[in-house]
Amino acid sequence: MEKLRAAITGINAWVPEYRLTNQELSKMVDTSDEWIMQRVGIKERRILKGEGLGTSDLGEPAVRGLLEKTNTSPGEIDLLICATITPDMAFPATANVICDKVGIKNALSFDIGAACSGFLFALQTGAQYIESGRYKKVIIVGADKMSSIVDYTDRTTCPLFGDAAGAVLLEPTTEDVGIIDHILRTDGSGRKYLHLKAGGSAKPSSHETIDAREHYVYQEGQSVFKFAVSNMADVSAEIMEKNNLKPEDIAWLVPHQANLRIIDATGRRMGLSPEKVMINIQNYGNTTAATIPLCIWEYENRLKKGDVLILAAFGGGFTWGSIYLKWAYDPK
Ligand code: UT7
Repeated sequence: MEKLRAAITGINAWVPEYRLTNQELSKMVDTSDEWIMQRVGIKERRILKGEGLGTSDLGEPAVRGLLEKTNTSPGEIDLLICATITPDMAFPATANVICDKVGIKNALSFDIGAACSGFLFALQTGAQYIESGRYKKVIIVGADKMSSIVDYTDRTTCPLFGDAAGAVLLEPTTEDVGIIDHILRTDGSGRKYLHLKAGGSAKPSSHETIDAREHYVYQEGQSVFKFAVSNMADVSAEIMEKNNLKPEDIAWLVPHQANLRIIDATGRRMGLSPEKVMINIQNYGNTTAATIPLCIWEYENRLKKGDVLILAAFGGGFTWGSIYLKWAYDPK
């Protein structure tokens, strides 16, 4: 039997309208456009406003648009995986809610929580369902409403994050395109540097946890920065070596968008010229599981069939990794 690979055959993304600019942030906390641009590289981020709206309300329009764009009916979808750390609620899975909202019935659906590496973990999981030969159409969504867990009185974290969703359709192919290799890693001991203290089973919500502001992202920025730079660059160089890829073989690096300095370090380590690195952090900030599909979606018209892409991420957990794929279609 011919070997099946999973190929991305369509991509879509969705961001809310509201733009939170550095200027507005500098009225909320003691920060400045200059500091944020120099240290991180973000100009503005999108925020989902509205009572009762959650991550599924970011994922729904992204998936609905993907189905339209690829002429796929909801009934054809076999599996939908949602990568998120800001689920609508602890249970059921946000993937189930998205399926219900877009009319995907009789499909398997579940969430994956791997923070900023969530899209890569979910993409690889979905690819393996396709490679098994039993699943034909799989949707991978990366979606996070980070504004629901960001403390807008904490200047060390509130400039960093934004809300967004991105989604891809995966289908089987026997051509020389699609997802070829992956290296995905975790190290739970890194949790002390980046986590959410309360609201889980170890520390359920209480008056005390709310008073102590423990329902917001806790990050020791400098420590996470050091791990992010070395691990994201190492794993990207490692996947190149493993597959005998030279810098000239790579059309695009698609890095997780957390900090422009981390992105630059990864590109340099891989020997890539800056014009081969996808960047849109300035417009959206760190949208956690959504950064990678959001980035590819914005560059979609510049991608050609056969282009080699390296996707790379680092995030809470710690989680990190890279995926090597060949783009499956020309601009439409
Ligand atoms: O995607 C998930 C994984 N997360 C990451 O990859 C994030 C990794 N970390 C980072 O990107 C960076 O560490 C940050 C952007 C979070 C912080 O940048 P930094 O260059 O590491 O700054 P720092 O924490 O060392 O702080 C430098 C100074 C401090 O002042 P002093 O102690 O030197 O007087 C901070 O208090 O900058 C100060 N500072 C700010 N100043 C203005 C921290 N935040 C701000 C701010 N505006 N928003």
